[in-house]
Amino acid sequence: MRVLNSIADLREVARRRVPRSIFEYVDHGSYDELTFNRNLSDLKALRFRQRVLVDVTSQSLRKDILGVTSSMPLAIAPTGLTGLVHRDGEILAAQAAEAFGVPFCLSTVSVCSIEDVREATTAPFWFQLYVMKDRGYTASLMDRAEAAGCPVLLLTVDIPVSGLRRRDAKNGLAVPPRLTLRNALDIATKPSWAFGVMMGKRKTFGNLAAAVPHTGVATLSQWISTQFDASVTWKDFEEIRRRWKGKLVIKGILDAEDAKRAVLLGADGVVVSNHGGRQLDGAPSSIAALPRVVEAVAGRSEVFFDGGIRSGQDILKAVALGANAALTGRAFLYGLGAAGRAGVTSALEIMAREMQVSLALTGCNDVRDVTPEILSRD
Ligand code: GLV
Repeated sequence: MRVLNSIADLREVARRRVPRSIFEYVDHGSYDELTFNRNLSDLKALRFRQRVLVDVTSQSLRKDILGVTSSMPLAIAPTGLTGLVHRDGEILAAQAAEAFGVPFCLSTVSVCSIEDVREATTAPFWFQLYVMKDRGYTASLMDRAEAAGCPVLLLTVDIPVSGLRRRDAKNGLAVPPRLTLRNALDIATKPSWAFGVMMGKRKTFGNLAAAVPHTGVATLSQWISTQFDASVTWKDFEEIRRRWKGKLVIKGILDAEDAKRAVLLGADGVVVSNHGGRQLDGAPSSIAALPRVVEAVAGRSEVFFDGGIRSGQDILKAVALGANAALTGRAFLYGLGAAGRAGVTSALEIMAREMQVSLALTGCNDVRDVTPEILSRD
């Protein structure tokens, strides 16, 4: 059997198994992908300080995330249409996360619903909310998340309008996926995906089916622009804070002023994010923005990080710059596309091992002791 020992290996297998329109939805960013690429290159450009002759016989990656101990400083990010990457994708990823001891966050625009994931798991999972034009439905999503015992609501705020992902438009990404003359050849070369997803019962937005009856096939971006509310402001954030009794995390913060405001208005966590380079092209990389946000928050809430995580070293760099934990989207999706639940577990194992070895080679044994001192200035 082929040895798969990097996230890049998982990506390559996923690329061969998942239809092009769905793989490229996951794999790419918006417009010219300047921010998408900077997320990767700015992380790569950071360097570690190699330290020697320290006893590193054992390392601990355990870290508290919003009051719960996690087996490593990583959570699975909310990602749209995960159940189209692999049949029952959200359920499988949530199960893999639970077994590994890291949080899983379900997206509003998931394929498996809140209730599907609740039924298939025992550990509490987080729910990510988009504010939709139908405010009554938005409130009902919060009620459903509360009823499912979700301890954390993650409010994504960086997509009042959708950045153009050029590939999606060209590939005609549709929900539910449809077989057309143009994609028939591609789908014919992905039989296990076709058997799993096309023959499966879940193929559209599981949480939204009741609110958004399908009147025909739409591309995802058309759908987003008709359903998401572009008029959302800080007032809505305050309203959501009043309504949600659990932990509230705001996702999509790059600016220190926005971070300060979120904390002032009661955010328990701030995710430094440019939506994986899928929104404002030309925005700074997440890792470049992280130190400013950490400074602005000044310990008043937890700070999380996403954007460009493809290895345990990347997670460690984000932690060194002050993130309490990282979130990963694409890395787990590549695992999922490659091998379902086992692939997500592989992605988590690969990154945990990489982090453990890198921690040891910086002369550290406990990820909770990591400071910017493990980074090199050279
Ligand atoms: C949805 O959140 C997306 O980035 O596609």
